[in-house]
Amino acid sequence: MKVCVIGAGYVGLVTGACLAEIGHNVICVDKENSKINSLSEGICPIYEIGLEELIKKNLKKKTLNFTADLAGAIRSQDIIFICVGTPPLPNGKPDLTSLDDVSKLIGSCLNGYKIIVNKSTVPIGTAKRVKKIIKENESKRNNKNESFDFDIISNPEFLKEGEAVNDAFFPERIVIGSESHKAVEIMKELYKSIINQDFEYDVKNSRNNRKKIPIIITDSTSSELIKYASNAFLATKISFINEVANICERVGANIIDVTYGMGLDSRIGNKYLRAGIGWGGSCFPKDVRALAFTAEEYGAPANILNAVIQVNNYQRYRIIQKAMDTLGIIEDKIIGVLGIAFKPDTNDTREAPSITIINKFLELGAEVRAYDPVVKKCPREMDDKVIIANDIYETVKNADLLILVTEWPEFLNLDFNKVKSLMKSPNIIDARNMLKKKSLQNLVSITGVSGFNCVLKIIMAIFTI
Ligand code: UDX
Repeated sequence: MKVCVIGAGYVGLVTGACLAEIGHNVICVDKENSKINSLSEGICPIYEIGLEELIKKNLKKKTLNFTADLAGAIRSQDIIFICVGTPPLPNGKPDLTSLDDVSKLIGSCLNGYKIIVNKSTVPIGTAKRVKKIIKENESKRNNKNESFDFDIISNPEFLKEGEAVNDAFFPERIVIGSESHKAVEIMKELYKSIINQDFEYDVKNSRNNRKKIPIIITDSTSSELIKYASNAFLATKISFINEVANICERVGANIIDVTYGMGLDSRIGNKYLRAGIGWGGSCFPKDVRALAFTAEEYGAPANILNAVIQVNNYQRYRIIQKAMDTLGIIEDKIIGVLGIAFKPDTNDTREAPSITIINKFLELGAEVRAYDPVVKKCPREMDDKVIIANDIYETVKNADLLILVTEWPEFLNLDFNKVKSLMKSPNIIDARNMLKKKSLQNLVSITGVSGFNCVLKIIMAIFTI
């Protein structure tokens, strides 16, 4: 099938490369010429495991092409994926400017039956909005008394950063929302080899245990809500376990055992129950806010959604509080931070917890050194007084406190003897519950509680080495 993907960002590139890999003819469009030039050379502008290889492979197979000529691509292709950004406005409402602009252009370029697929995360009712804009702009063409048919599909993505390529080939479900039976059948055909898990591309030796992928056919509004509700529910699960962990800290319970005990219940499941500093990234924060906004817009109470955001903000505050409990006056103290990205396996720092806590420590007059395996520059939102360290041990040198903020696996192999010898006073806050008790037991005396889990119990427990 002839596919046009508008927007060479995270969602657009992964979707485009995946569709090209399963044999479709894909043209990926972006208004940034420099991005298109480097992509045409097979250079991927984002850090995502396996994506650059997939792009290179399909450029070679000529199933994937990049262009800045949006009108040309719309005219030549039959299925148009909209994958533009919908960043949050200050009130939490998604900004649909790019989406509207693209819809106008699609309207003015219609030259045959087209299916327009909303893949961007868009608020409830956007499929109808896009249809209206295309129709309005199509009118300009009608003075030639021609009109072409088109249909709108809502097809949300559930890609996780760091695993996006895998999630594209092995989705847990495919959601198709539309009022057109014809368009739904064509979309089923488009995704056939993903649904049947019948494609060459092989990651993690997954060929053997491939099961058919469930496909949900529904109306466009329900499809749009599935996306928001899914993300908001995952964020709720995390905020819930963080609230439980704070209770654990007060009553002396062991959060790891608590989550383990909960997670064995198949109605609960053990995923997204890792207590810690809370969620961040380009999706959860904006999607939970957007859903709360929509709820209030339509007169539905958003009590849980607002509480989920509050609990998440509180988790970051807990770190700052624990640092104050340990260090007293923060001014002139040296604080080392391990992890800047909002989670491992990505260089994305959007709404990263590291930004909130580092900015606060700097505001309080501390010297802050931060290390991340892939984030090598100070993020735009972070105070540039931070020192971005080149290696882990440079981060802890003469430090009064070390905070583990992102659970990069390499932090598990820290040489704690060396850390202890380099730090001024060996205090560590493990904000991701990632440290293995055994590796520390002979090095540290954990104050006030017994065992590593206490660290987890206190989430951000402090222990002196
Ligand atoms: C998320 C959704 O998972 C994905 O389906 C959607 O398409 C986009 O948003 P992503 O933002 O890449 O993906 O991050 P994810 O891996 O889901 O983690 C989200 C946040 O929750 C991160 O900050 C992570 O550190 C935090 N998290 C996750 C926890 O604190 N505890 C957990 O148990 C899981």
